[in-house]
Amino acid sequence: MMKVVICEDQATAVARTAAEIIQQVQSRSASVLGLATGHTMDAVYASLVAGHDTGQVGFSQVRSFNLDEYIGLGPDHPQSFAQYMAHAFFDRVDIPLAHKRLPNGDTRDPNSEAASYEAAIEAAGGIDLQLLGLGTNGHIGFNEPGSSARSKTRVVALTQATRTANQRDFGAAEAVPASAITMGIATILSARRIVLLALGKEKAEAVARMVDGPVSPSCPASALQTHTDITVFLDPAAACKLSPPDANIHDHSGIDG
Ligand code: F6R
Repeated sequence: MMKVVICEDQATAVARTAAEIIQQVQSRSASVLGLATGHTMDAVYASLVAGHDTGQVGFSQVRSFNLDEYIGLGPDHPQSFAQYMAHAFFDRVDIPLAHKRLPNGDTRDPNSEAASYEAAIEAAGGIDLQLLGLGTNGHIGFNEPGSSARSKTRVVALTQATRTANQRDFGAAEAVPASAITMGIATILSARRIVLLALGKEKAEAVARMVDGPVSPSCPASALQTHTDITVFLDPAAACKLSPPDANIHDHSGIDG
């Protein structure tokens, strides 16, 4: 079931998202987390780091798998998702080096890297909680419109819309790599729990298609409607295009609610 929680503001939506992850790790210290990058996630990781620093949560037994990585960027490239994760989270908490994985975008054989990444997730026992953001075009991970709900971790071409959306990290859309390795939609759906965070009016259209639209490859995130345990945290701006029944599921109960 997809639970939609419209929070009173961005800070509350971020705090609620982080609280789900913290509770997951508190209840199972050896949790397998699926992690996301992107600007929406900056504040989520800051909140997790704060929870770590205050002793509320520890990550020493957690294993993590990130959703995606650009092809052609090594883990030391400043714009790689590996570097994003290092700066935002991994270097600031107690998660062991060997426990954290992203697809290796700097490989001669991206197809075999994708297959071994999928196998590694399975070998870890699958993902307990998958954190997701949402692309303005409805993508999750780098599953662009047209992606099959049966897709596994694989090599994908990025759309112009995504390269333009991500250009602020690179200076120009042409500088954004044209392809990536991403967990597939089936990979994401195999997580036992999913938490998605979308903020701001630029996400409102994609949120409405994800929640209210038909389940269709034209909006990859709509496949999440078929998952048994997904919670979507929104701020009012991201929720503004939802149809009235969803928009009535307001939840102002705060981070403990
Ligand atoms: C990144 C990822 C993407 C982002 C999405 C939103 O790992 O999986 O699907 O979550 O592009 O990005 P932001 O938060 O930058 O708007």
